[in-house]
Amino acid sequence: MAKQNCRSKISSVFSDGFLFVGGSIVALIVVWALWSFMSASPTADPSFLPTSATQKSALETPRDPVDTGFNLRFDPPDPTYYDDPDMSYTMEKPMKNWDEKRKQWLKLHPSFIPGIENRVLMISGSQSTPCKNPIGDHLLLRFFKNKVDYCRIHGYDIFYNNVLLQPKMWSFWAKMPAVKAAMLAHPETEWIWWVDSDAAFTDMDFKLPLDRYKNHNFVLHGWEKLIYEEQSWTSINAGVFLIRNCQWSMDLMETWSKMGPQSPEYDKWGEILHKTFKDKIFKESDDQSGLAYLLLKEKDKWGDKMYVEGEYYFEGYWVEIVGTLDNITDKYLGVEKGEERLRRRHAERVSESYAKVWDEHLKDAGYGRYSWRRPFITHFTGCQPCSGDHNQMYSGETCFDAMQKALNFADNQVLRKYGYMHKDLLDSSDVFPVPFNFPA
Ligand SMILES: *[C@@H]1O[C@H](CO)[C@@H](O)[C@H](O)[C@H]1NC(C)=O
Repeated sequence: MAKQNCRSKISSVFSDGFLFVGGSIVALIVVWALWSFMSASPTADPSFLPTSATQKSALETPRDPVDTGFNLRFDPPDPTYYDDPDMSYTMEKPMKNWDEKRKQWLKLHPSFIPGIENRVLMISGSQSTPCKNPIGDHLLLRFFKNKVDYCRIHGYDIFYNNVLLQPKMWSFWAKMPAVKAAMLAHPETEWIWWVDSDAAFTDMDFKLPLDRYKNHNFVLHGWEKLIYEEQSWTSINAGVFLIRNCQWSMDLMETWSKMGPQSPEYDKWGEILHKTFKDKIFKESDDQSGLAYLLLKEKDKWGDKMYVEGEYYFEGYWVEIVGTLDNITDKYLGVEKGEERLRRRHAERVSESYAKVWDEHLKDAGYGRYSWRRPFITHFTGCQPCSGDHNQMYSGETCFDAMQKALNFADNQVLRKYGYMHKDLLDSSDVFPVPFNFPA
């Protein structure tokens, strides 16, 4: 079960979809391509019926998926996993045969099949009570705004969770029940993208290279060499990950969550993980060591389907990033001075086509550390914006300034499409109207 390649399953859903929609598929694909280009959110439009003929049949025979036309709101009465009283969203009750159940749902909702392999739902979350840090909620709002901006620009859905779905799975364990629930709530999405609340998108143009992950079910940032050679629990980061919506992932979360505080095996795992990773000084089991353990010790079962992304900042440590933002700003302004196409004002919705022009100029920029490309995701590990209990390695002010700087650096890429920019990355309130042909 664990070794199956979920992707081939979904590909077969895709080809079934072709049979279902039959002769109108070409028209639908064209309409879909146009429509998905125009609309950032695949679920925002109540229905998009390409011709009056399909509109008529959709209204007359709503039970028959062949004739429903292109409709993203239609839910036929045919039973699906949602109608099974034994189906549970909770972690206690594992999901079985998810690939078949999801496939069955998709057959009944063929409008969601085109483009499914690139559909992403971002999830993030924070606690259900006010932050202890007096400005914590303000910071979380800014981090959330940053994610909403990124999702709007790229047409991704976003779900923010602020309750402990399993009360004993607190802190970093809370994401597991949220990810499971999101998979069940979004059978139409192929990838669930967990992004910690204290991580910010600092390159609004960069898109996940999903093609690279087509044979994998889980993507996380790290250094493969360090896992296998140094056995370090910090060789990876569990704060940002991409997980495919499939049975393998359900099984992974079942295995992974057995290491958590709600599990009778919690103490046992604390000991195992402490023994396995020499650099892990605390004795409690934690999600990141757990994941590192599965990569290291259960490579055949789990590791081989996990992609450890080290080429670009799938997430990056803020301490190594924030100091480079001023130079990166200068570099990008330099490129814009020399490239008229990048100075052209344009609608936010067509931003992705300007990202392609940027790519021509960023060929030599490199990726990740020592590169002058904008870092994709800057993660404020250790800053604890909500509680304020930051790691004693840095002062609260250092963390605060760094967060302001990264968030304003990102905001400048967004606000610019609205005609304004921050003058100073450390001043969040002051903006100026961007002059025509800026920065020539
Ligand atoms: C920024 O650029 C200046 C001038 O090229 C250089 O001296 C400095 O080391 C750079 N700073 C960083 C953090 O890369």
